[in-house]
Amino acid sequence: MPLVTTKKMFEMAYKHGYAVGAFNVNNMEITQGIIEAVAEEKAPLILQVSKGAREYASNSYLTAIMNVAVKENPDIPIATHLDHGDNFETCKQFVDDGFTSVMIDASKFPFEENIRMTKEVVEYAHKHGVVVEAELGQLGGIEEHVVGVDDVEKHLTDPKQVVEFVGKTGVDSLAVAVGTSHGAYKFKTVPKLAIDRIKEIQRLLPGFPLVMHGSSTVLKEFVDLINKYGGKMPNAMGVPESAITEASKLAICKVNIDTDLRLAMTAKIRQVFAEKPSEFDPRKYLGPAREAIKAMVKHKLHVLGCAGKAAECL
Ligand code: G3H
Ligand code: 13P
Ligand code: ZN
Repeated sequence: MPLVTTKKMFEMAYKHGYAVGAFNVNNMEITQGIIEAVAEEKAPLILQVSKGAREYASNSYLTAIMNVAVKENPDIPIATHLDHGDNFETCKQFVDDGFTSVMIDASKFPFEENIRMTKEVVEYAHKHGVVVEAELGQLGGIEEHVVGVDDVEKHLTDPKQVVEFVGKTGVDSLAVAVGTSHGAYKFKTVPKLAIDRIKEIQRLLPGFPLVMHGSSTVLKEFVDLINKYGGKMPNAMGVPESAITEASKLAICKVNIDTDLRLAMTAKIRQVFAEKPSEFDPRKYLGPAREAIKAMVKHKLHVLGCAGKAAECL
């Protein structure tokens, strides 16, 4: 049964010190690139859809594409996940549609309201065999928030709150704010993640899986290619891969990557357009773009340490 929840994946990832890649899908080529990479690298996989993806491609197309990927890869454990669900109704819809995992992101609300909303989703999802991810703290580079110690506390996840939150909600995994940030312009200087917080949560809640959002590295090679072929992305910067690997060896069991896929795809399409200005067949640039996604995902699977781990997660 290749369509799975993240339960076994996270158990194995925690035990063996790696993280599972959660890649955002927006269309067929991105999904195919991801799937070809994990099939060759024999890695477990989480395919996730954001609100932006749903608005762009519609739930029904994305679900159908992901279901084909699942059907064609019976040896790969795949979880289908709602990324950043913002209310109960959205989460319910994805549970009802057969996703195996949903995220309720109520992190912008006060602590007690975050607990209430998360608990409501957990109760419904668990009744249907679906696992739930929640979020506590606010993503963003440490430097951007640091004014004083109190300010850091306000934005990064407080390990003591995690214990209360998990106890009261029964949530299956938790996205933590440890200094990462969404998008291609995460930091102005090379960032430092709050690895100590991950270790502290791990000490207080041993065995509990954590999630890291905003984990793209914004590899210089790809930003340079985009800029070389007519793009304009000055000062793009992400999370160093060494920090992602370090976190993956700790309690971080799921690492979300979207921006790095976008950069790989865009760099390749720009290159084709620049080198072959007369090209107008979409297959001639979307095909290479799909290959670029595949190469990027293969690389990431090694950064996360989950290559070769598919069988143990089944
Ligand atoms: O969580 C952020 C993801 O990168 C999704 O972004 O809403 O533009 O698809 P999006
Ligand atoms: P990036 O923008 O760093 O790829 O993060 C994606 C993400 O966290 C999706 O939920
Ligand atoms: Zn995210």
